[in-house]
Amino acid sequence: MRMIPHVAVVYSGDASVPGSAPSAHAQHRFQGVCEEFERQGIIPELIPYRDEAVDEVRHALRGMDAALIWVNPLDAVDNRAVLDAMLREVAQAGVFVSAHPDTILKIGTKDVLVQTQEMSWSSGDIHVYHSVEELHRQLPVRLADGSSRVLKQFRGNGGSGVWRVALSGPGEDPMIRVLHALRDAPVREMRLRDFATACAPYFEGEGRMIDQPFRSPVPNGMVRCYMTHAEVVGFGRQHVTALVWSENGGAPPPPEPRQYCDASQPELQSLKSRMESEWLPQLQHILDIPAESLPVIWDADLLCGPADEETACTLCEINVSCVSPFPDSALPKLVTATRRRIQATS
Ligand SMILES: Nc1ncnc2c1ncn2[C@@H]1O[C@H](COP(=O)(O)OP(=O)(O)O)[C@@H](O)[C@H]1O
Ligand SMILES: [Mg+2]
Repeated sequence: MRMIPHVAVVYSGDASVPGSAPSAHAQHRFQGVCEEFERQGIIPELIPYRDEAVDEVRHALRGMDAALIWVNPLDAVDNRAVLDAMLREVAQAGVFVSAHPDTILKIGTKDVLVQTQEMSWSSGDIHVYHSVEELHRQLPVRLADGSSRVLKQFRGNGGSGVWRVALSGPGEDPMIRVLHALRDAPVREMRLRDFATACAPYFEGEGRMIDQPFRSPVPNGMVRCYMTHAEVVGFGRQHVTALVWSENGGAPPPPEPRQYCDASQPELQSLKSRMESEWLPQLQHILDIPAESLPVIWDADLLCGPADEETACTLCEINVSCVSPFPDSALPKLVTATRRRIQATS
């Protein structure tokens, strides 16, 4: 470590290369992060990432003490493959990287739903399809009781490749009702075979689809637990509507904005305590992740029951690749955690 430590704040978006001035948008987006690093005696540098500039970014990161990465899987070509390989190298060379690509693979893909389905935060009844044929064969059996299922591509964001599916007719190749979790997507009726075929791109390479029960987010929506390592550092609550359809097949109403609060929010204390003393130790045990390998900012999204049963929650997903925005209360926590990792590894 140098006398004054340096941290890279890596984000996707600009066409610029390291060393050039970051865009006004990036400066605004990471202003709070940069100010808090400066306040804690660390020099931040905003570094835009694109696959074409991977060599320049590698060079820049090797001169840093830490690198915090905000790049969504679908922002980068190839689902972050080039970026992740570079980050592994940089971490190997002694730079503290958060989130480390290995941690993303453990908790940040939809596979985490499968891996943790024995835990009490899971709905259970979670399955994986590795091919169009598997999906076509197994999905109708799971839909036969009239329920809706949610199918998710292995690695994605923003609702892309997340589909609600229900039967709407009988037969060998039944009609199904489907809704993509993308904003403004219409509810559609189609043959199961056509849906399965349209899912083919999700199975390319290491691709797969995870199938979990649909859980109505009405009336309480989603609670997002923001974490620094293994500590809850804030919450976001949102009435998500992405996969809500009306009985007559009407499209979802728009979601309400997410409301942020800090970790001391009174009615969320039982959730906080379950997260920290029950779910996190189980997650770390199942996936073999020490607390300090958990990212300095990540979140677990839970579809929650009625307010008087705040702890009746189902894991929807874990976000690690690009958690932003987050509650103000998370900011000093993530910066302090980064500072401690720099000190511990220097
Ligand atoms: N099991 C489920 N039941 C009900 N709604 C769901 C379920 N899974 C996902 N959703 C809805 O779909 C949205 C996108 O799914 P998510 O798992 O968060 O994937 P992404 O990585 O694309 O954000 C969620 O924000 C939520 O509104
Ligand atoms: Mg999501």
